[in-house]
Amino acid sequence: MKKDFKKNILCIGAGYVGGPTMAVIAHKCPQYKVTLVDVNHERIREWNSDRLPIYEPGLDDVVMAARGKNLFFSTDIENSIREADIIFVSVNTPTKTFGVGAGMAADLQYWEKTARQILECSESPKIIVEKSTLPVRTALAMERILNSDHDSLRFDVLSNPEFLAEGTAVNDLLHPDRVLVGSRLTDSGIAARQQIVDIYANWVPREKILASDVWSSELSKLVANVFLSQRISTINAISAICEKTEADVTRVARAVGMDHRIGAKYLNASIGFGGSCFKKDILNLVYICKNYGLNEVADYLHSVVKMNDYQKERFVENMLQAMFNTLAGKRICIFGFAFKADTGDTRESPAIYIAKRLLEEQADLVVSDPKALRNAKEDLSDEGGHVEFIEDPYQAVSGCHAIAVLTEWDLYKSLDYQKIFQKMIKPAFIFDGRNIIDHQRCFDIGFNIYPIGKPPLTHLG
Ligand code: NAD
Ligand code: UGA
Repeated sequence: MKKDFKKNILCIGAGYVGGPTMAVIAHKCPQYKVTLVDVNHERIREWNSDRLPIYEPGLDDVVMAARGKNLFFSTDIENSIREADIIFVSVNTPTKTFGVGAGMAADLQYWEKTARQILECSESPKIIVEKSTLPVRTALAMERILNSDHDSLRFDVLSNPEFLAEGTAVNDLLHPDRVLVGSRLTDSGIAARQQIVDIYANWVPREKILASDVWSSELSKLVANVFLSQRISTINAISAICEKTEADVTRVARAVGMDHRIGAKYLNASIGFGGSCFKKDILNLVYICKNYGLNEVADYLHSVVKMNDYQKERFVENMLQAMFNTLAGKRICIFGFAFKADTGDTRESPAIYIAKRLLEEQADLVVSDPKALRNAKEDLSDEGGHVEFIEDPYQAVSGCHAIAVLTEWDLYKSLDYQKIFQKMIKPAFIFDGRNIIDHQRCFDIGFNIYPIGKPPLTHLG
């Protein structure tokens, strides 16, 4: 089998990053054999089935085109390591929940297990590529583990962080703004880096492939997420000022974003950012800064997460205040549980925090979402009988006092709000945590509207 392909590429960790990234590499590089392995057998079974384990627009087509030809999903990690020339490691690197650095530092246990397993199973030299997001200088630890045993085997450890966003992963991978590959600046490091560059050069223009040293590459990934999340926290801070001053955050964002030095993206005020990475990566960097004694830098970066927490809580408190300071026994419909549109992923979704807070206020919840209900049920599994899950939004709103729009699904922009109004208890409220629905129209129908960062439209006098 091996000699049929120019190279054997392996990816350890078949999740939101490993799956789409390897599917695109396989699709664009038929000359390589691409294998994904995972300790989660159920996940691998789903990758091999008609229903893939993650929802991502366009992913099914890319996977189906390559699967069984040069793209394989397997649970045989040991043999796959043995066969591989290049190993991408895309395991999860969550925030540590125990011991030193709990709640801040990256939990590197999955990462280290992988390093040890690579060492144990390897019989030939390999290039190891960090695809996971890792603290700066992690490659050094990987090198030390890998070079602790074999005298004769060589492992080059490279950094090739992933910048895809969920919901647009396939497009981001097909047309990346840049691909970053960091290596040691030794002959062997540079030669290994060239091999990774050669993979991407099959479809990414050369000028978009950046060669770097390892530490800058590792750090750049964290810094990109700091910049993106900082913009969101800034506009969310401004949304609070807008609510006090009757300014409109959408107009402010537009006026500010038209300055080409600032740019228009990532200026949508919201209930706060979610997703598995922004918070984790900022906290990881905060922890690193503290370790280096850079306390002012740590505090500055930490404020991005604190502002995000404040924004989620502010949304709940606004709901409470608008609904006459009590939510007890009221039925609230949540439109959207995913952390953003076009994904079923709910990791760190602001909807989790908001739902739990509403339950604390003794509201009854109906959660609706086109793709995330399976995850939502798990996220709220401890919450007992006060939560229902109904996919059809028209059914979900029946008998509700309020709707909270928490995910910016297109679906919610085009619903028949007249029909919805008729099914709800009056006075009916909409809290638009994403500013996506037509506020004036819904107000004219009879709703009391509470957007983010704009004056509310109410019939309450
Ligand atoms: P994920 O949890 O979806 O996938 C990780 C997979 O690794 C899981 O399926 C898990 O079972 C598997 N795994 C863990 N330990 C293993 C081991 N020892 N051997 C084999 N498999 C193992 O995570 P993800 O969202 O794909 O993120 C992976 C990394 O990529 C993280 O470091 C994350 O910060 C980074 N990242 C994520 C995104 C994103 O959009 N999700 C984007 C860029 C970077
Ligand atoms: C983000 C980055 O965009 C990716 O480049 C990066 O690779 C990834 O994190 C990662 O490292 O995991 P992702 O979290 O998938 O991608 O999605 P984003 O589109 O960035 O959205 C993150 C959160 O910010 C969502 O909750 C979204 O609703 C929110 N957001 C985004 C806003 O509230 N306002 C905006 O203007 C933009």
